Amino acid sequence: MPAAREPNDGPTIVIFGASGDLTRRKLIPALYNNFRKKRLPAGLRIVGFARRDWDDHTFRDWLQGGVQEHGGTFSADTWADFAATLGYFRGDLEDAGDYRRLCHHLGPEGAENCRLLYLATSPELYGPACDHLAAAGMADGGCRIIIEKPFGRDLFSAMALSERVHAAFREEQVYRIDHYLGKETAQNILFLRFANTLFEPVWNRRYVANVQITVAEKVDIGERGSYYDKAGVLRDMFQNHLLQLLALVAMEAPASLAADAIRNERVKVLGNVRPIALADTVRGQYSGYRRAKGVAADSTTATLAAMKLYIDNWRWQGVPFYLRSGKAMPAKSSVVIVEFQPPPDVIFHLGRNQGFTPNYLSICIQPDEGIQMRFETKVPDTVAESRSVNMSHSYLEAFPGVVLPDAYERLLLDALKGDASLFARNDGIEAAWRLIDPIISGWEKTPQISPLHEYPKMSWGPPAADALLAREGHSWRMGCCGLPCS
Ligand code: BG6
Repeated sequence: MPAAREPNDGPTIVIFGASGDLTRRKLIPALYNNFRKKRLPAGLRIVGFARRDWDDHTFRDWLQGGVQEHGGTFSADTWADFAATLGYFRGDLEDAGDYRRLCHHLGPEGAENCRLLYLATSPELYGPACDHLAAAGMADGGCRIIIEKPFGRDLFSAMALSERVHAAFREEQVYRIDHYLGKETAQNILFLRFANTLFEPVWNRRYVANVQITVAEKVDIGERGSYYDKAGVLRDMFQNHLLQLLALVAMEAPASLAADAIRNERVKVLGNVRPIALADTVRGQYSGYRRAKGVAADSTTATLAAMKLYIDNWRWQGVPFYLRSGKAMPAKSSVVIVEFQPPPDVIFHLGRNQGFTPNYLSICIQPDEGIQMRFETKVPDTVAESRSVNMSHSYLEAFPGVVLPDAYERLLLDALKGDASLFARNDGIEAAWRLIDPIISGWEKTPQISPLHEYPKMSWGPPAADALLAREGHSWRMGCCGLPCS
């Protein structure tokens, strides 16, 4: 009888679909940076599983280029030490036998160690991979599975996928990535709100006039036409990133930092969003989109959307939340703006046509990471002229020399530690689909309620996106975080 193998003396990360872009551009640079900062557990090994006919050396060489291009500070010595943790296993994601061989290759995991299974594959393979992992005995014990977005393409498929994942893994083992939750500035929303006394007392319907969440992208769909044309902006950005930002801004204070305490609050607030009226949505497609590779010549896929929604609870009743995101816009800018009510009475003798700009707080997620408070001040040497000025916190100035880590650095460390607070939970994913699904089907079935507008590339979208706010006397606030001054 062969002697039983010794358990590994450290945890293992297995990346399925390891020859893809995500591994080279995001995962390995993030792990390399954690290694460089001495944050990875001792004895960690990283195994890439993919179909290409590679060996450890080819895999490492290919990844080294990725780290040099995308990983920040590179040192050949550190890379050499890190590369020793990297191995390659050739296998087919649809072949059950290859999972059994992989399991044998990995050997037993020590009792204290976890095994992280990272599905960096195309989404159609999530289900089969879970089946095969379970059949190969790799879903048991202390292992965790990380699943990339998209988690389903509607509520129905998300539920079906969940069922399949749960047939193999318990919910506590499942880590669903939404990289926006891992962004340093998104994590800071809870610090801003709950580590200060200044903001929370006014963070409600009595003082807030509206909240605006913009995730604008300068890039167009590039080479991703065949994926994007089937997804569109609602599936690609709203169901996940925008709604997660909304949850962070609007949720109640969690009782503790325990993962489920935080996730309960995020899910609760999504569950309280009132079904979004089609008439409160705007959709756009940038000019020339239909000529992109992989896009149907008569495509009606939206590359930009804006919407107004309400949260039915005591804190937010009646406060409009405006969300917008699009491709081919003039700037890359992700920002949350909380606009406050105007003063109840104006005692100053302002000139005719001269009013106050309401106070607003801008939370700049990226770029120009920071926070700005816009408020009114008297213009010196005038009787009653007022002007808006900014009080600013910039990460660059407050933390000189600190490079903000990529979201994946934090998310991978947390998954290794077993902290799921920055990962989406099953019920949160479903709550988000419940909001987005009716808009997608409404746009198809009754297109006249929210017609598709063409917008020029490098513009802020169709005028209808401004009209959506103008109806309530509001406007998109500019002048921060990469947005031009209004
Ligand atoms: C991804 C979307 O989830 O997020 C992309 O699929 C989008 O279309 C990207 O470009 C935006 O992420 P970030 O971090 O660059 O704002």
